[in-house]
Formats: sequence, C-alpha cells, structure tokens
Amino acid sequence: MLEFHVEPSIVRQATVRVPGDKSISHRALMLGSLADGATEISGFLAGEDCLATLAAFRNMGVRIEQHDDTTLTVNGVGLHGLQAPAETLNLGNSGTAMRLMAGVLCGQSFDSTLTGDRSLNKRPMRRIITPLEQMGAKIASSDGKPPLVIHGGQELSAIDYSLPVASAQVKSCILLAALYAKGRTVVVEPSVTRDHTERMLAAMGVDVESAAGRISINGRQTLTGTRTQVPADLSSAAFVMLAAILAKDADVLITHVGVNPTRTGVIDILKALGANISLENRQSLGHEPVADIHVRSSTLRGGPIDPALVSLAIDEFPVLFVAAAAAHGKTTFTGIGELRVKESDRIAAMASGLRALGISIEESDDGAIIHGGSFSGGIVESFADHRIAMSFAVAGSVAMGPVTVRDVDNVETSFPGFAAIMSSLGIRIRAEQDA
Ligand code: S3P
Repeated sequence: MLEFHVEPSIVRQATVRVPGDKSISHRALMLGSLADGATEISGFLAGEDCLATLAAFRNMGVRIEQHDDTTLTVNGVGLHGLQAPAETLNLGNSGTAMRLMAGVLCGQSFDSTLTGDRSLNKRPMRRIITPLEQMGAKIASSDGKPPLVIHGGQELSAIDYSLPVASAQVKSCILLAALYAKGRTVVVEPSVTRDHTERMLAAMGVDVESAAGRISINGRQTLTGTRTQVPADLSSAAFVMLAAILAKDADVLITHVGVNPTRTGVIDILKALGANISLENRQSLGHEPVADIHVRSSTLRGGPIDPALVSLAIDEFPVLFVAAAAAHGKTTFTGIGELRVKESDRIAAMASGLRALGISIEESDDGAIIHGGSFSGGIVESFADHRIAMSFAVAGSVAMGPVTVRDVDNVETSFPGFAAIMSSLGIRIRAEQDA
C-alpha cells in the first residue's frame, strides 16, 4: 500500500498545469464511441477511472487509438454499433463510468454486467435503476448495489423525471438512455449540477434544451464525431489552490483550467472564506470555458458555507474541510449529505483525519462544524479515497510536524502525478510503499 509522507513546506512562485478533467474525459470517450465518425480528444485524463471507461468501450468493439497519454482518436460506431462485451465490465472505482454506462447499456440489444472495486460495489445504484426501469429497462442488482446486470433488447420510452437528489451522474445516465427512447425525455434537477453531458451532446449536433434546471432531449438523434480539447480539472486544481492559499508567500498560476460555472463553487466558497483567487486569460475551449487561476497566500476566516453552492462544489468538500480547519473561527457546512455516498463516507473520513491532526469537528447526518486551528503532525487514513488522500497531503504541507497519509494508491484514479506536481510547487511530499 502506498503512503504519502508530507513535511511542513514552503511554496513560493510557480506555474503548474494539472491533468485533464475527469468528468469531461469520461464523456468524450462515451459520446465519441456512440457518435458517427471519429472524435479526436486532446488533454485526456489518463487516470485509472477514465482508463476503465476506455477499456469497457474497447471491450464492446470500439476502436480507440491512444496516440500518447493524453491524445486519442475514438472511432465512433454510432448509437447502435456497440457489440456484446466478451466479459463483465469492471469499472474499478468509477461511479461516473458505472452510472453513465448503465444508461447507454439499457438501450442495447445485448445483455451486460457492470461491476467495480470494493468502494464502487457499495455505492447506491437505486437512483439510476428507478428512472431507467420507468423507461422500460430491465436491471438486476444486489439490493440496489452493483454488480448490475442489464438485460438488453428492451423498448425504451421517454420519461418526465424529477431527480430526488442533485446528481450529474443520474441526470447524464437518463439523458444517455433517452437517446435510445421513443419521445421527448425531460429531467428536472433540484439544483443545477455539472452540465458537461449537455454541452458535449450539443457539440456533437444533438438538440438538447436546458434552462433553469430542466433538460429536455428527443430520442433517436444522431451524434456526430467531433474534436474535443479537455481542460485541466478544476477538482484537481483545488488541491494546488489550497496549498498556495495556506502557504506563507505563495503566488501560483494554474493554467488552462476548466471553469464551467456548474463547477466553480469551490472558487466562490474559498473566496467567501477570504482567499485571494483571480481568473485570468479566460477563453472558450470549444464547448467548455477555461481560464488560468491565479492564487496568492491568504488569511482565511470561517463562516457559514452557502448550501446553494453544494452541487457546484460537490467533489471539493474534502479540501474545503481542510480550508475550514486552517481558517480562523468556526465554519458550518450544511446540506452535504451526498458526501456520505461518495468514494468513501467523506464526512466521516474527513472528521477522522482532522481529529487525528488535532482539529475539532462536529458531524451531523448532512453537515459538519469545523473549529479552525493548527494541524499537528500525525497519521491519517485515506479510507482508500483519492480526494481524502490529497486533501490531507495539503494539510500536511502546513502542519506543525510530519503527516503520513495511508492507503493513497487511489490518487491514480483522478490525479496521476499528484506528488510530482505538488513537489514542483515546493511541497515536501514522498510517495512510498508502507513497511
Ligand atoms: C460526476 C458527478 C458527481 C461527482 C463525480 C463526477 C460526473 O457525482 O461527484 O465525481 O462526472 O457526472 P454525483 O452525480 O453522484 O453527484
């Protein structure tokens, strides 16, 4: 098992680029596979999650050429060109891969089975099974958890569906199934979630209407292959941002980051806590906005976090908990119950690690109160969750003593090269096998 050993560090001036966006990379592979013609992808995230999606589509007969780590050509087979996979599709740690692919696979003529690692096989799938069954899909599960056995050859019809929880994965799953359904499907979200699926479908020539959390799409439309440049992942940039904010005299530029407004909650929350962050060189990269993010050392002050921003920052709460722990005063998080069903129970995992580093935190079912202080050195468990591991590596860079983060192999799922990039900032981090 890999561990991070992090020591108190100095971050000064640096320019860094973090790997490609995970959500967009998954979608480029999936939609590219279902398109007519080739899709050229650059900036692809060659992390384990997206590589699981890549392997799954290859398993279904899609020819995907990987020119180098980040440049690919997906030779689309059209909506009806996938072939029955020879084996169970193992999607590793990736909830996005499983939930979105379930939507695609319901529309196929063949049967398929989706499974994952220990973490993924514990995650709730009822949230996709319910709407997909309403569309006419036939899915067997293990009491609402993976493995999912999807029986193909069903006639799907459109639905009008209000999501009970804000989830881009569930929304996207339904939109993908809707491509195979007769009629017009409407999905209503309780709060706006990342809209990469809608943007990429539109870029591929699909007519998809989206306004005020209501997304409509007609079935049986054709996707046309396209060229897509994947921006750097804001969720990965968040670790670099916080490392710079918490350091003493840091001035860091993170280049070419995706700043889609359905993702930028982390910037708004950090700014509300007092962070000095500015977006520079804004441009549109095809269907997604990008910018360079300029971050300088800042003094953070705790306060209530606006629950309206939760779905716009859903993956950044582990790192925001570290920000709150380093801020002066008390920070209150509410409406974050979804964190309990991510790659780990992220409220419990963060509470355990923060306490191990001497920070006081009170948990509730769907919230937490964090009393800012200083991090002691110590040993922290990641609960095999990549974002927990990386969040505590950032805490270690400003702790009063060395911090060991255990079980960090899963950082490879979303941020390959994390330790090297953090080292280039000046952070004293070593990744080593445990004894
Ligand atoms: C994702 C949606 C979010 C997020 C995940 C990626 C996506 O999940 O946490 O990392 O790519 O659609 P939920 O839809 O479960 O909130």
